[in-house]
Amino acid sequence: MAEVPPGVKGMNDILPPEVSKWQFVEEKARGVLESFAFREVRTPALEYTPLFVRSVGEVTDVVEKQMYTFDDRDGRSVSLRPEGTASAVRAYIERAQWTREPVTRWYYVGPMFRHERAQRGRLRQFHQIGAELFGVDAPSVDAEVIAMLVTMLGDMGLPAAALEVNLNSLGEPEERAAYREALVAFYRRHLEALDEDSRRRLETNPLRILDSKTPEVVALNANAPILLDTLGDGSRARFDAVRKHLDALGVRHNLHARLVRGLDYYTATIFEITTAAGDLGAQNTICGGGRYDRLVAALGGPATPAIGFALGVERTLLAIAEPAENYEPAVSVFFVPMDAAALAYLLPICHRLRAAGIRCEIEHRGGSMKSQMKRADKLRSRAAVIAGSNELASSTVTLKDLAQGTQTQIPVADLEPKIHQLLD
Ligand code: HAM
Repeated sequence: MAEVPPGVKGMNDILPPEVSKWQFVEEKARGVLESFAFREVRTPALEYTPLFVRSVGEVTDVVEKQMYTFDDRDGRSVSLRPEGTASAVRAYIERAQWTREPVTRWYYVGPMFRHERAQRGRLRQFHQIGAELFGVDAPSVDAEVIAMLVTMLGDMGLPAAALEVNLNSLGEPEERAAYREALVAFYRRHLEALDEDSRRRLETNPLRILDSKTPEVVALNANAPILLDTLGDGSRARFDAVRKHLDALGVRHNLHARLVRGLDYYTATIFEITTAAGDLGAQNTICGGGRYDRLVAALGGPATPAIGFALGVERTLLAIAEPAENYEPAVSVFFVPMDAAALAYLLPICHRLRAAGIRCEIEHRGGSMKSQMKRADKLRSRAAVIAGSNELASSTVTLKDLAQGTQTQIPVADLEPKIHQLLD
C-alpha cells in the first residue's frame, strides 16, 4: 500500500476536539482586545528577509538560526515570519497609518515559523495572538496593555493568581550601550565560567548571556551588574510610573532585574508572563512583549513610540487544564430516519432547523433505531427527531427528549418552537 508523506516535523494539524479549545481561546482574546479598542490586521506569512534582519536583529537566535529563509522564483530572499511585530510595523509605515489614526491599536492572530528544536510547547509552526499599539509613550499605556493581557488570560481560565507577570526596563539604547560595556567587562573577568555559546555572544549580543541556561553561567549571572542600576533618572522614573499604574489597576507583578528579551528592537519596559498552571513543563513563558520606541524610525517611518506583546496559543492551551472535549459544542438535534422514504421526509425538515441556527446531524446511512440512538448519544444530542411510515402518513415527527427520556409525536409545524423550548 502507498504510504502517505508525513506532515512537517514541529508543525501540527489541529483537529476536533482540540480545535474547539483553540476557538474558545481565540474568541476570548478577540472579545477582550476589541473591548480595549484594538482592531484586527492580517499581514502575509511571507516577507522579504531584510525586514526581519533589520527589526528582530541580525545577531539574534531567531534570525541567525531559526528562520525559514529561501529565494523565491524571482531570486529574492524571503522568510516565513518568525513573529508578527516586524510585519505590523512594515504595514504601519507603508500605509502611513499615523495620518489616519495617531494612536493605532492593532491585533493579529496567526501562525509564526521558527526552526527550533521541537518539543512540548515549542513548535516550528506555532500561533500567536499579538497586539501592537503605536503613537503613545505614556507609562499608563504600558500598564493598560499588561492589564489587558491579564484580563484576557483570566477570561480564558487562567486567573491572575496562576500567573507571574515579570517586568524589567531596558532603558534607552544609549543607556543600554553603557550597560553592555559594563557587562562585557564583567564577563571578561570571568571568561573561564563561560561556555562556548556565551563566549560567542560576548562579541555579538552580551545581554543574551543573562538568559543562558548553562549552570556555571547561571551562577555567574547572579553577580553580574544589574541593568536597572545603570539606567538614568528618566528611565527609572518612567519604570516606576508603569509599576504604580499597574498597582492601581490591581495587577500583581514582579521586578525581574535579569529579564532580557530575545529580539533586538526593545526599549524601556519589557515583560513576560509565566505560569505553573496546567501541563507546560519547561516552556512556561506563555507571552512576552515590551516597548520598541525606536523601531518605526529604524525601518524608515517617522519617530513613533510603540508597545506590544504576543501570546503563544499552544502554550496557553497547555496551561489551561480543562480537556478539549469540554469545549466541543454538542449536537442539538439528531435526526433518525427509519428508512429511505423517512430520510427524504426528514431532510428538508432538518434543513429548515439548520437555517434557524440549530446544530443538527442527520443519519444518511440507515441502520437500526438502536444504532442510530447510540450515535445521537455519542454526539451528546439534546433531542432526537424520529420518523418512520407512521409519522410520514400523519405529517408528524416523534420528538425524543434525550435528557428526560420522554417522547411525543407532534405535527411537523410544532417542531421548531418545541426545539427552541428544549434548548432554552
Ligand atoms: P516572543 O517572546 O519571541 O515575542 O514570542 C512570544 C510568545 O510566542 C512566547 O512567549 C511563546 O509563548 C510563543 N512562542 C515563541 N516561540 C515559540 C515556539 N517555537 N513554539 C511555541 N510557542 C512559541 C515575540 O514574538 C514578539 N513579536 C512579541 C511582541 C509584540 N513584542 C512587541 N510586540
